[in-house]
Amino acid sequence: MNIIEIIEKKRDKKELTKDEIEYFVKEYTKGTIADYQASALIMAIYINGMNEREATDLSIAMAYSGDVLDLSELGNDIVDKHSTGGVGDKISIILLPIIASLEIPVAKMSGRGLGFTGGTVDKMESIPGYRTNISIDEFIENVQKVGISMIGQTLNLAPADKKLYALRDAISCVDSIPLIASSIMSKKIASGANKIVLDVTVGKGAFMKTQDNAQKLAELMIKIGNLAGKEVVCVFTKMDEPLGKAVGNSLEVIEAINFLKGFMSKDIKDVVLEIGAYMIKLAGKGEDLSKNKDMIIENIINGKAYEKLVQMVKNQGGDISYINDINKFEKAKYIIPVESKTSGIIKEINAEDVGKLACLLGAGRLKKEDEIDNTAGIILNKKIGDYVEEKEVLAYIHTNKPEIIEYAKNKILEIWKF
Ligand code: URA
Repeated sequence: MNIIEIIEKKRDKKELTKDEIEYFVKEYTKGTIADYQASALIMAIYINGMNEREATDLSIAMAYSGDVLDLSELGNDIVDKHSTGGVGDKISIILLPIIASLEIPVAKMSGRGLGFTGGTVDKMESIPGYRTNISIDEFIENVQKVGISMIGQTLNLAPADKKLYALRDAISCVDSIPLIASSIMSKKIASGANKIVLDVTVGKGAFMKTQDNAQKLAELMIKIGNLAGKEVVCVFTKMDEPLGKAVGNSLEVIEAINFLKGFMSKDIKDVVLEIGAYMIKLAGKGEDLSKNKDMIIENIINGKAYEKLVQMVKNQGGDISYINDINKFEKAKYIIPVESKTSGIIKEINAEDVGKLACLLGAGRLKKEDEIDNTAGIILNKKIGDYVEEKEVLAYIHTNKPEIIEYAKNKILEIWKF
């Protein structure tokens, strides 16, 4: 078997066998297939697609490219969640401590930023000292000790996905149904939870722009999950404008902390309640979704969810003085208000455009090896449906790159449509 023949087959729209997929995943992970050949194959898959069987084989091959966790010592109802990606999506940072505060164990492996979307691991790393790169034993120990651990894909979990994820990001091959489904499901199979709620985002700020494609992605992930013996529920989340007000790593962490302190914006609250209610149900802690939502609100109001976040951060080496006092987070050197040139009601804020602009300001990677600027991003002062007077602030730019401020200001005036 050789990689050139496999590339040719996919280029010519032929179906790959299980052995070919396994060969590619194994050899690419080892480094014997070069990035340029993997890029060619991924691009061929992106253009010509994969059927259900190929996507399932890819998920399983990537899941078994490293360790596959056995979380049975934590119980039989380990529930996980994963989002297909969004802009301003800080749901995991908010929701998972809530779930853990309800005595449901949380063992969560997250990804880094991808394309124009942010990643939970990058966000968590903006808390000074917080370690996302810990051993599997410590990961399990942390769940046993404080009921929750949130880590990165830095353990030997689905290393093939980790490599391909960064490659896809760098060659503009992210928004493909079989590639997203196999990326997410490989991580979910490897990280050991047996019940999973998938947040399938749909709209301008999601990889799936239409409900039809979101539905196809959801169905494929459910099938792959079921074949791997997992119970999977998909929730669709609208992602046309960014979720909440903050886009950018530490800015989003601050918004998440404030949410758990009781400052709940409606759009974030809706998503937290919906996904959380299903997580509680899958964990066997409540059949009635509306009662589950009440349980979530109760643990935000009584402070238990916030306390759980503090415990998790402390346990993983993070400096909790930043959680207790968000003013301690380092700020970008330039925080620039962008004033409206006109008055009226905001009709559209394209989340993908906001995500791309935030990346340019420093919040995301343009190349695989780029460092992220945790302080960079955008704060939305006005959202869709808001009335704006002339000279009112639409958004604040946070950046350390003075050379792009003028461009970013003009871009915001274009993105916020009346
Ligand atoms: N999230 C993932 O983990 N992988 C993707 O491909 C997209 C979103």
